[in-house]
Amino acid sequence: MPATVVVGAQWGDEGKGKIVDLLAQESDVVCRYQGGPNAGHTIVAGGETWKLRQLPSGVVSGTTSVIGAGCVVDPEVFLDEIDVLVERGIDPSIVVLSGNAHLIMPWHLTIDQASERRLGRLQIGTTRRGIGPAYADKASRIGIRVQDVLDAKILREKIEVALAEKNVWLERVYEVQGFDLEDVWSRYAGYAERLAPFVGDASLLVDEALHDDKSVLFEGAQATMLDLDHGTYPFVTSSNPIASGAPTGVGIGPTRIDRVLGVAKAYVTRVGEGPFPSEIQGPQQARLRELGGEYGTVTGRERRCGWLDLVALRYAVRVNGITSLALTKLDVLSEFAELPVCVRYRRRDGGETPHFPAHQSDFHHAEPVWEVLAGWGEPLDAIESQHELPPAARAYVEFIARELAVPIELVGVGASRDRVLV
Ligand code: GDP
Ligand code: IMO
Ligand code: MG
Repeated sequence: MPATVVVGAQWGDEGKGKIVDLLAQESDVVCRYQGGPNAGHTIVAGGETWKLRQLPSGVVSGTTSVIGAGCVVDPEVFLDEIDVLVERGIDPSIVVLSGNAHLIMPWHLTIDQASERRLGRLQIGTTRRGIGPAYADKASRIGIRVQDVLDAKILREKIEVALAEKNVWLERVYEVQGFDLEDVWSRYAGYAERLAPFVGDASLLVDEALHDDKSVLFEGAQATMLDLDHGTYPFVTSSNPIASGAPTGVGIGPTRIDRVLGVAKAYVTRVGEGPFPSEIQGPQQARLRELGGEYGTVTGRERRCGWLDLVALRYAVRVNGITSLALTKLDVLSEFAELPVCVRYRRRDGGETPHFPAHQSDFHHAEPVWEVLAGWGEPLDAIESQHELPPAARAYVEFIARELAVPIELVGVGASRDRVLV
């Protein structure tokens, strides 16, 4: 199938990078459609480890890699990652950056940090990379886009307009120092020469690739539960990671998408604040964190760990139109004798529901209803095909597919590219 969206089905860090890298081997184009350097995708291939924040995961295999208009770009992070490509012998001309993508400006980072400080106990736990403030300026129509750096005069005007407001805000509201027009202008104008060769028409490129029957992967960053409209607001990111964000963020029509591959861990993690019904209470949480290496790629924070939540996953199937799933990190569960799975939520009135609550306070009060599945008690390191899976591991995977009524196409049994069962 030519056009596939790969979307995080939980709260992020499901292993999207690894799955995209794997599928990129047989794809012609990989396209990021939203988010920015808040993403952290770890890819282990050919004995090398890659940590990508801004570039699509297709770069690892040298596949044409596009950053769509729906993304926000930190030029410094972008150019650092381009340098890494060059160091590792990959031709950076495979990268195409939409001129319509918005730039993360220095004040976005300052505001992200200052506003989290101000929120105190109510903070979101953002990655502090300026994501929310950059998308806010985009919506307010005072954002600065990639194409603006290509014209020094326009760039200066736009920075001047933005700073006239931002500096007042920074100094009077957040009581931090503002920015100097000349400093910011010269720094960003300085990026122009290096950014220029990458700037292209992402929409046209992807449209033509699809017309030529090429296969295109749309790589989501973040995940369904962090979606601005359909996630656990306000504990979300500021873009639309769900699958329908792909055509919007790239600039093609929704009829062009052929399939949606959801990526879910065999358990759940969440970084940052916000409700998390299946979060493990007690020492098993730390054990799962250690076994799964669950520490943030971008911030190094401990990821909160929970058992698999089928209510949230059922919701992800719904809002994304997921046609099949990749279930990652099954190997991490090998040491547990029993595996609780959240199959329904218990509401405040005592009733039970298989559906994700539409209202925030119902979600806050939801209690997991568990079904406990048997563990398999042996490592999956040597397993090479799905037929070799221990019966209990197979039963775990089949239980999920049955409950969600969605086929599980890929099962991850290790971090490296080849540790996936088809
Ligand atoms: P992403 O943000 O969705 O791309 O996921 P991250 O890269 O942030 O986190 C997933 C982590 O799990 C990475 O360190 C991967 O190398 C690792 N990983 C991915 N799939 C598997 C798997 O099937 N088994 C194991 N043990 N690790 C995996
Ligand atoms: P990948 O692509 C996990 C979380 C943050 C915070 C919230 C808002 O690696 O799956 P933001 O900086 O976006 O304004 O933070 O979203 N968050 C992620 N959690 N994986 C990510 O990306 C995330 N990107 C943002 O922790 O709770
Ligand atoms: Mg990640």
